[in-house]
Amino acid sequence: MSIILAIESSCDETSAAIVQNGKILANIVATQEVHRAFGGVVPELASRAHQQNIIPVVDEALIKANIQKGQLNAVAFTRGPGLMGALLVGTSFSKSVALSLNIPLIEVNHMEAHVLAHFIDEPKPNFPFLCLTISGGHTQIVRVDSPLEMTVIGKTIDDAVGEAFDKTAKLLGVEYPGGPLVDKLAQKGEENKFIFAQSNIEGYNFSFSGIKTSILYFLQKQMAENESFIEENRNDLCASVQKNLVEMLMNKLKKAAFETGIKEIGIAGGVAANSKVRSEIERLGKKHGWNTYIPAFQYCTDNAGMIAIAAHFKYEAGLFCSQEITADPKLKI
Ligand code: KG4
Ligand code: ZN
Repeated sequence: MSIILAIESSCDETSAAIVQNGKILANIVATQEVHRAFGGVVPELASRAHQQNIIPVVDEALIKANIQKGQLNAVAFTRGPGLMGALLVGTSFSKSVALSLNIPLIEVNHMEAHVLAHFIDEPKPNFPFLCLTISGGHTQIVRVDSPLEMTVIGKTIDDAVGEAFDKTAKLLGVEYPGGPLVDKLAQKGEENKFIFAQSNIEGYNFSFSGIKTSILYFLQKQMAENESFIEENRNDLCASVQKNLVEMLMNKLKKAAFETGIKEIGIAGGVAANSKVRSEIERLGKKHGWNTYIPAFQYCTDNAGMIAIAAHFKYEAGLFCSQEITADPKLKI
């Protein structure tokens, strides 16, 4: 029996969740709107906003879950990867809660938590399973053998796919954060209108920085001939870029699934919200006999619910950490 409070503060979402015996009772997320005006996350502003939001989100989570502080058996937090100043807020807050309530502390790796979001609701994947974790900061293919055993078998060597979405969105004059808007405009566009080159690097690794540059050169050339090229073709450009990025993801995922023989396939992270990613994973699943899994939207983008479920598995295994622990912005799986 366990009731755990979990805190997520790695980037621009301040979140608190309560998990009781593996069941999420509350998952409260405060999204920081302050970054919108800057067209990207400003680290200093993120830590300040975490400081302002953390107590209200924890209070709200406790109320929603109908749990008193005295009932908590442990407190968990995101140790990394993420922004140092942002991580420090969650880390130090959690340490003080653990000290004052005299309960154990559990450190959680944010990327492992994205993967373990698949174990919040039914249906849950069977082991071993492959998880394509795609977000603004990461692009990974992870082989998962148990909640506590996972290996990164492929990753981006430069930009994350979410970053590629956001940066090309900017080139196309689409507002920050670009990913969701590119997705929306793409639905009204023709995805085969413009063909962009695809990087193909070794193994299960990805590279997205070249795509951004080739789109930039393509746009500069077109704009020199027709100043309103982007405006006239925005939907088709969004659809074509999206098709290109999703195809690169799926090619590597297919390769990993074929070569490992694993047919339990999940996707996680903010970009898992993309409609083309979702339809492609379903199409490929049907074609190749995979069982495919996508967590509920609230557990795909950054949230403490996923930190809570990861902490639940660590609690069961007795994996606690000491008060000496420090945040680690570069923490790896
Ligand atoms: O996991 P997440 O919320 O935060 C990070 O840990 O990065 O992912 C945010 C990323 C952003 O790059 C955002 O543009 C992208 O996910 N994203 C999308 C969509 N929704 C969010 N990209 C493409 N299509 C979407 N529908
Ligand atoms: Zn994330």
